[in-house]
Amino acid sequence: SSSRKKCGRKKILNDRDHLNVWTSLPAPMFSRNDFSIWSILRKCIGMELSKITMPVIFNEPLSFLQRLTEYMEHTKRMHVFSIQCVAAFAVSAVASQWERTGKPFNPLLGETYELVRDDLGFRLISEQVSHHPPISAFHAEGLQKDFVFHGSIYPKLKFWGKSVEAEPKGIITLELPKHNEAYTWTNPTCCVHNIIVGQLWIEQYGSVEVINHRTGEKCCLSFKPCGLFGKELHKVEGYILDKSKKKVYNLYGKWTECMYIVDPATFETHRKNDKKASEDKKSSKQSSDSEETPQLGGDSLEVIPGSQLLWRIAPRPVNSAQMYNFTTFAVQLNELDKEIEAVIPKTDSRLRPDIQAMENGDIDLASEEKKRLEEKQRAARKNRSKSDDEWKMRWFHQGPNPHNGSQDWLFSNGYWDRDYSQLPDIY
Ligand SMILES: *[C@@H]1O[C@H](CO)[C@@H](O)[C@H](O)[C@H]1NC(C)=O
Ligand SMILES: *[C@@H]1O[C@H](CO)[C@@H](O)[C@H](O)[C@H]1NC(C)=O
Ligand SMILES: *[C@@H]1O[C@H](CO)[C@@H](O)[C@H](O)[C@H]1NC(C)=O
Repeated sequence: SSSRKKCGRKKILNDRDHLNVWTSLPAPMFSRNDFSIWSILRKCIGMELSKITMPVIFNEPLSFLQRLTEYMEHTKRMHVFSIQCVAAFAVSAVASQWERTGKPFNPLLGETYELVRDDLGFRLISEQVSHHPPISAFHAEGLQKDFVFHGSIYPKLKFWGKSVEAEPKGIITLELPKHNEAYTWTNPTCCVHNIIVGQLWIEQYGSVEVINHRTGEKCCLSFKPCGLFGKELHKVEGYILDKSKKKVYNLYGKWTECMYIVDPATFETHRKNDKKASEDKKSSKQSSDSEETPQLGGDSLEVIPGSQLLWRIAPRPVNSAQMYNFTTFAVQLNELDKEIEAVIPKTDSRLRPDIQAMENGDIDLASEEKKRLEEKQRAARKNRSKSDDEWKMRWFHQGPNPHNGSQDWLFSNGYWDRDYSQLPDIY
């Protein structure tokens, strides 16, 4: 870890919160151009991707535990308690995936990741609680005791010839103790297209239902598949129902840009006029032929007069393209200064040698270390199966979700006491 400190990361003073933040990674990303992923994947169509060993070059230097932490980027939303803001937060949580085609490292069993952000007012701990199937659990809390945000994610990856689909099973829960409110939802399905040839691009689709368990309000969101002409690319639409199932709001936007809210009458009127206009256009001009790759920008979003902005994405750093298309928030996730190093347990993702090597631009070492860690994990499992030792999750336990009742992983407390004796040696 001592070499990391010499990596020449630029520190700047952020005058808003007077914190030092990293603005770039120690090394630019490696080009993937010379690599044929097809030779690796042709035998694996329809298989679950977690069972296929992928070369490290297709990764980004973050563990999936760290990628999960990116839900917290727009955490300021969570201090406002209305279902529309929670819905916007659920959309914003997937925005960091835009153009992020690098695969995060699979967390090792027992790996942990913590993030304390005084400036954003939260602390978070996550742990890899199961290896087969891979399950990551996380628990975040507001430093003002204003919210608790937790969940467990089981990203089921499927390879479909030209694309990889990730279905993020698991429940996400937001609790606002002061208001006695709790919301639950799941994430949409994420798909990376053109992994063999052509331009890689990411699509999110499927429905997301945000439920307010106290009031019975519900927000139904639909992440649109991009369709043949790419018109619907990145679009999200939905509505909010009150307890009596009456529609009280419409929501619309793009998960890569922004979300708006508007009253249903205005929305319907606009929709009708819009439809009429596009029919007029169609009759005067034949539509173009279909194409394999949609226009990656999609149609621009038309803001309906009378709408209110709920959320807008922050710009990426200027050098993002050389940094795996990371956001400013993501760039800082591997930050390891003396203060952090002194308190984190030895299982923290920041200390993973393969991720460190990749971040420093040493692909060969990253590849070697990744193999070594995976073998070490296999050996440890074999050892356990020989003895009666069962794997014990350290910071989470299995149990029913308190609001929804289905299987979940819940925080067992203790982590922030910082007694890290008897942790497994996983690196
Ligand atoms: C970053 O985004 C560009 C498109 O803007 C894309 O061509 C490139 O493949 C992306 N890089 C990664 C690592 O996803
Ligand atoms: C497996 O068990 C042996 C004997 O108890 C021990 O020496 C070795 O370090 C263990 N290996 C792992 C990877 O836990
Ligand atoms: C709990 O939430 C999950 C995910 O949203 C959903 O699939 C499941 O049906 C819910 N269970 C109950 C009992 O509401």
